[in-house]
Amino acid sequence: MSGELKKALAGQLSPDELDRLVGSFDIVGDMAIIIVPEELLHRKRQIADTILALHKHIRVVARRAGHYDGEFRILPLEIIGGEERRETLHRENGVRLLLNPEKVYYSVRSGNERKRVAALVRDGERVLVLFSGIGPYPLVIGRIQPLCQVVGIEKNPDAHAYAVKNLSYNKKITNVSFIHGDVREQLPQLGRVFDRIIMPLPRSAGDFLDLALGGLCRDGWLHFYDLQEKGGFAEAVEKIGQACRRNGRELATASVTVAGHCSPRLFRVCVDARIG
Ligand SMILES: C[S@@+](CC[C@H](N)C(=O)[O-])C[C@H]1O[C@@H](n2cnc3c(N)ncnc32)[C@H](O)[C@@H]1O
Repeated sequence: MSGELKKALAGQLSPDELDRLVGSFDIVGDMAIIIVPEELLHRKRQIADTILALHKHIRVVARRAGHYDGEFRILPLEIIGGEERRETLHRENGVRLLLNPEKVYYSVRSGNERKRVAALVRDGERVLVLFSGIGPYPLVIGRIQPLCQVVGIEKNPDAHAYAVKNLSYNKKITNVSFIHGDVREQLPQLGRVFDRIIMPLPRSAGDFLDLALGGLCRDGWLHFYDLQEKGGFAEAVEKIGQACRRNGRELATASVTVAGHCSPRLFRVCVDARIG
């Protein structure tokens, strides 16, 4: 896809501009989300029109107008072509997800990782997804493993509202529920333990490890996301080891999966840990 956009713009942009063009972009539902470097902002309309001409199913072209930021990890957008709207319906792993990418966090790039984790869930498990966003982990797990029970907790009111809507859009999924609020308050109030807890908050999940261990049953599974450079993956495991020691628990097994990267050197890793 990256070569295709550059090729289509070859007659319109100078060789230097073509060099600077980021040819790849994310597709969320019928929306393309692209990074337009500062020096190419005067070309944004041409870039958007070319994407629309190349991909007939794309109706909205937006550019990243900032970075993922704040507690809710929100990304500011500017619509640069197509329809002037921000809501779209995306399909992932057989699940329908409605979202406004400017109000909620959602990454299409994590779809394979969600499928990997969902495939590990066994019949009868009680699963908790902390930081559940618009619901992709709970819904994908709920669809793939209909004989488990899944609960998601999310603080961003817009993301929680989409999660609830998304549950109603996926009528066959009947084993998922969502709670709105801060996991620090909501998890202790649940007064129950889980067989598996998923923590998709790579930048600060470490701050919630003690809390998560309190909600995890003996011999339960923890999926802990962290950001680490190559060679530092053992540090992610060590964070869990330390939390286990603080809480009188035992880290029985741990394996690390690379689930993506944030920059060429910084990886998003998931530690699958069995905790006694
Ligand atoms: C990286 S996003 C992951 C969202 C979702 N699991 C996904 O994969 O698309 C992290 C989410 O955690 C939420 N969050 C951050 N702090 C929270 C807290 N203390 N309690 C509940 N949710 C929180 C954010 O609003 C955001 O939606």
